[in-house]
Amino acid sequence: MDARAHDVSLRAMTDHEPSRNFNHRRATPLAVAQHAISLERAGDPQAALEMLLDRIGTGVNARLVLRTASNLAATYADFNVSSLSEPGLLNLLNNPTVDRASLAQIAMFKAMSRWPLIKIIGAGETGTWDIAAGLFLDAAEEIADDALFITALETDTVQAFNLELLLIAVRTKLLQKPERLKNTPVASIALAITRQVELNEAVWLQSDSETAGLENLPSGAAKSMLNALYEGANYTDDEAHSIPTFGTITDEVSMKVGAQYANAPYPRWTSLNVPEASGRLTMARSLSNDNRLHRIKRPGVLIAGCGTGQHAIVSALGYGPKSSVLGVDLSRTSLSYAARMTKTFAVKNLTLAQGDILDIDSLDRTFDIIESIGVLHHTADPMESWRQLLNVLKPRGLMAVGVYSASARAGLSKYRAGLDHTEPPSDDMIRTLRHNMICAPQNDFERSIIQSADFNTLSNLRDLLFNVHEIPLTLLEIRDFIDQQGLRFLCFDASPATTTRFIDAKGHNALGDLDAWIAFEGENSDAFEAMYVFWVQALA
Ligand SMILES: C[S@@+](CC[C@H](N)C(=O)[O-])C[C@H]1O[C@@H](n2cnc3c(N)ncnc32)[C@H](O)[C@@H]1O
Repeated sequence: MDARAHDVSLRAMTDHEPSRNFNHRRATPLAVAQHAISLERAGDPQAALEMLLDRIGTGVNARLVLRTASNLAATYADFNVSSLSEPGLLNLLNNPTVDRASLAQIAMFKAMSRWPLIKIIGAGETGTWDIAAGLFLDAAEEIADDALFITALETDTVQAFNLELLLIAVRTKLLQKPERLKNTPVASIALAITRQVELNEAVWLQSDSETAGLENLPSGAAKSMLNALYEGANYTDDEAHSIPTFGTITDEVSMKVGAQYANAPYPRWTSLNVPEASGRLTMARSLSNDNRLHRIKRPGVLIAGCGTGQHAIVSALGYGPKSSVLGVDLSRTSLSYAARMTKTFAVKNLTLAQGDILDIDSLDRTFDIIESIGVLHHTADPMESWRQLLNVLKPRGLMAVGVYSASARAGLSKYRAGLDHTEPPSDDMIRTLRHNMICAPQNDFERSIIQSADFNTLSNLRDLLFNVHEIPLTLLEIRDFIDQQGLRFLCFDASPATTTRFIDAKGHNALGDLDAWIAFEGENSDAFEAMYVFWVQALA
């Protein structure tokens, strides 16, 4: 799902102009969240986030308020970070039931915008990163005390290339003088950098001389700490034994794609926006008057291609405890990650199974709802895979589909085709390519790609640039398939900005008209980001 799509019911309730006399310190959490959305709609997301963080900083932890702050952080760039509350940011960063990816980024920008980091990074930008690393280590005591900097590093991947170049130089300096790790503030900063390296799967460049330096270090505590600074997480599939299989994976593309995601489970997530229980069921019921969910209290849900489980867990929580959700995927290591997170979030109504969606009928089950996001385009024949899934969808059941858009990905597909690499590329090759793109992007396309959230980790970058198989689709192909299968198109789950533009252009009543969307895309080539996400309904 589009992580930035805001809470549907809350947005629907909030259609008034923001009041000038609103006193958020005295208002209820619902009123605070509603006021924030009014401010956002009035074009002032900065004021909305400032107000929410201020309130969160006083200890308010109502889910609605936390989720609205997280959604705002994910939707807009370029916040003025100096006026955002530090206690509010810290409270959010310490809460895994809130999607923290963009919040960690904002927190880090705030930490980097003040003394001493602003001076140190300036020294790197105008001089050398080696000099900056020396200043950084000299200021270790102050930096180790900066809760925002340390927490942001430990919470989620941070995308700030000047900081990355600084921390790479700090790492090199520590390798040259391991005795500095005996200093307590230096050691505690090194631990935070190690966590960042775990989170980004050691995506930062490591030179040959550093590899040699690590090998030549005498065994001991310093060697272990330095190895960890370069290594990233050791991925385990400790939960794999408990996951059953169905069918047999024999399709050549499925085997290739399965192998890729077995070696590089995707995405590696650490937090999510916990939804209101049953909120997703209410939303799904509202998609059409005659869908079967109106008379079903215990829906059966299939998440086809659930990967590492973030979407499956959001669905299991959002369809409510009475629903029973099954997540299937080719990759056992991805499923193992999902199983671990299922325990972390205490989800009781999600089960997992390994198998190919081409074999889904061997489960001998049908479902009221099927969701498959970011999967069909990785199969040999996306339409055939979609057909297999429709075979197990009950009459008047709902299906959410997310597939790559051929037009939105045209530039990326061309770029991928021009990349010279062995199949599959090694981690080192991906690190080097990424580093070269950061230091000397060759064109506008590379300049835009390095801003993408998929640029932060090895598995994301592999998924973005080196996927072993992907077939993006056009809206015309999707419309033809929907017509052939006798499905009803319901709506797109597009970003709030795209939905607003569409309503302005075509009117609210056209939201369920796929032809109107096709025309809209023709007039607005940037209407969709990489993927189309939409809902269809099977007819009786
Ligand atoms: C890009 S990931 C998306 C994961 C998840 N849906 C999400 O949105 O985070 C694609 C996933 O689809 C799975 N997949 C691809 N082809 C599949 C197939 N034929 N059967 C089952 N899973 C498949 C892959 O193993 C991988 O985990």
